[in-house]
Amino acid sequence: MIDKNSVSVILCAGKGSRMNSARPKVLNTICGKSMLGYILDAQIESGIGRIIIVCNSENIDLIRSNTNKDIEIDYVVQSKQLGTADALKVAATNTNFKDISNLFVFLGDTPLVTNSDITYLSDSLKSNDILIASFETENPTGYGRIIRDNEGRVCNIIEEGDATTEEKSIKTCFSGIIIFNNISILSLLDNIKNDNSKKEFYLTDVIKIADNNNLNVRDVLLEYDSVRGVNDYIQLSQTEKIMSERIMQKFMKEGVHISLADTSFIHPNTQFGKNVTVEPNVYIGEGVIIGDDVIIKSFSYLEGVNIKKGATIGPFARIRPESNIGENSKVGNFVELKNANVADNVKISHLSYIGDASLGSGTNIGAGTITCNFDGVEKYKTIIGKNAFIGSNSSLIAPIEISDNSYIGSGSVITKDVPTNSLSLSRSEQVTKNNWVKKRSTKK
Ligand code: UD1
Ligand code: CA
Repeated sequence: MIDKNSVSVILCAGKGSRMNSARPKVLNTICGKSMLGYILDAQIESGIGRIIIVCNSENIDLIRSNTNKDIEIDYVVQSKQLGTADALKVAATNTNFKDISNLFVFLGDTPLVTNSDITYLSDSLKSNDILIASFETENPTGYGRIIRDNEGRVCNIIEEGDATTEEKSIKTCFSGIIIFNNISILSLLDNIKNDNSKKEFYLTDVIKIADNNNLNVRDVLLEYDSVRGVNDYIQLSQTEKIMSERIMQKFMKEGVHISLADTSFIHPNTQFGKNVTVEPNVYIGEGVIIGDDVIIKSFSYLEGVNIKKGATIGPFARIRPESNIGENSKVGNFVELKNANVADNVKISHLSYIGDASLGSGTNIGAGTITCNFDGVEKYKTIIGKNAFIGSNSSLIAPIEISDNSYIGSGSVITKDVPTNSLSLSRSEQVTKNNWVKKRSTKK
């Protein structure tokens, strides 16, 4: 159990230079959700009462606007990136730490840590002054190595750049997660110096200082796959694979049939009903709600859509945000929808673009129908009523309304509203010249 007076500090002020990208490192996404988003959710689920995020002056606005959570979050700025110890000091000096029990420190680039890891660490703290999370890996390059005394107790952490060859061979590493039993221990940060290879104030140096002051330091081993760090896009990709497997397993345990799950991408916040099938090679991005008995066929790409019971999507469908698909409706191959409200029992089976449109129940959209929603300057709406039949290869020039039960002849370009129960067509009449071929050949 986590004491509700616990506070967490998440260090996100580094420049992320190994990413070689202008995007704030902690806002890089994994399965569509930011690294920081995962860390925050794990902490909120674990019951930590208050969170402080240490940002830099360039990333604070983006971080703030991307972290709308129902929890008190303080954002503080570390103006110069002097190291992780300095970042924690900035948090401590800019925040009122009255009534705080335990203080957790997390790194913003360690997104795989879970709510149960955090609870396990908290339960292991007991009367120790400092608890750190460690892990073992065959390839520890880049991580701080855990140094133990003759009795096996943690007495120091040595960073890669300052480690001897012998220390580099140590495979137990520091995850970046530290819990301080009470905040008075933070006064030790004042003794940290930057006389190291990077000329930074390392938070890891607090362990040696604590050991010298006879404080009790302990480590708890977590799985590498719970704490691996993300410093470049290769590590981001490795982390995404692990996270994706977790997300797929969670949905499959809840009863979603995901065929060849490692071929698909599913955002963790997707909502699934019962008896849903997801065929291989599907992309489900942010904001997708899928009702009971829905089938998402291969190569479909979905974002921001609410799909109701019994609908069939794809193969090769693309549904863009702010769309709704009604019960038992069908969106077939090479159909693109954008901001489209599709009622129940609608069929859009092949090769169509339906944008800024609403379609009444029972309507059938023929192959090749295009809602022409953009005149080069503005976007306009297409409204189609119930039980309408739009013949194949029709262009509906918006703004336009086609009322209930009406038919549009194939190949029409429709520019004027169509009243109920009507047939409207706008193509030129067919001309057939009998025996034209023979007459033409005798002319020669
Ligand atoms: C850090 C640890 C290392 C550990 C590894 C785990 C230190 C000195 N080293 O190394 O022991 O094994 O994480 O992944 O702590 N940050 C700031 N301000 C700064 C510098 C960094 O807020 O001045 C933030 C970064 O944004 C990042 C985190 O702290 O989220 C860690 O910094 P990073 O430079 O990635 O440290 P590592 O070299 O990975
Ligand atoms: Ca790191």
